[in-house]
Amino acid sequence: MQTSQNTPFVYQKPIRGVILAGGLGTRLYPLTKVTNKHLLPVGKEPMIFHPVKQLVSAGITDILIVTSTSHMGDIVNLLGSGRDLGCEFTYRVQEEAGGIAQALALADNFAAKHRMVVLLADNIFEYSIWPVVEAFRNQPKGARVLLKQVGDPERYGVAALDEQHIIAIEEKPENPKSNYAVVGAYLYDEQVFDIIRTIEPSARGEYEITSVNNEYIRRGQLEYSIVEGRWTDAGTFESLMEAHQILLVNENKILDPRMAL
Ligand code: G1P
Repeated sequence: MQTSQNTPFVYQKPIRGVILAGGLGTRLYPLTKVTNKHLLPVGKEPMIFHPVKQLVSAGITDILIVTSTSHMGDIVNLLGSGRDLGCEFTYRVQEEAGGIAQALALADNFAAKHRMVVLLADNIFEYSIWPVVEAFRNQPKGARVLLKQVGDPERYGVAALDEQHIIAIEEKPENPKSNYAVVGAYLYDEQVFDIIRTIEPSARGEYEITSVNNEYIRRGQLEYSIVEGRWTDAGTFESLMEAHQILLVNENKILDPRMAL
């Protein structure tokens, strides 16, 4: 799609941010017995500051936070309106944990007719994702995911690639087809909510974000970027330690990837 013969497509509307901060965090028990995983310290700040700062670093300031009933009060007490972080928050309660795609469905009113960047609140990146957001603005339609080579792909959604494209994503495969994990940052166009309405729960009974991404593949509309620098989720004790290391070195600042060049 081109606006004219010589002008490449650029998405002009503001992109909205969605931070998914639900889940029980059982792999971190007893740390998460009385608090939400995303309120635990990482470096010098509560974990959820990181996805907020990521979005703000990419110029995204209209942000929806989704979390469970039991922790919404604490999350709102911490984040407030967003004024101190340079953004504006909207909040939605996820009554029961039924998978990432089900949590994202709660963003329907907030993000309808907008493109959005969806971040899982326990994913920690050394560098700002702003170049990925820029690439998405230049993409006429569809979705974009971020890939990172990892040593333990069976813990993640894993991408099978040909020379140019992702040809399939498998959720936590026993025999991964590559070592490229699909990390917890997803860029979607307006089609995503219609897609979520069509997917079925997986064998573990969850509405998987991987099913949504596979539908974009089926439509020939899934692009990808490779994560620059270090990345981890912080869902296990080992990965929480790794998250500490990534953020402590730079005092929780999000680095500009141009510094990596
Ligand atoms: C989720 C996704 C998985 C992704 C991972 C990244 O897994 O289902 O595809 O690779 O986040 O953090 P979970 O952390 O819920 O096990």
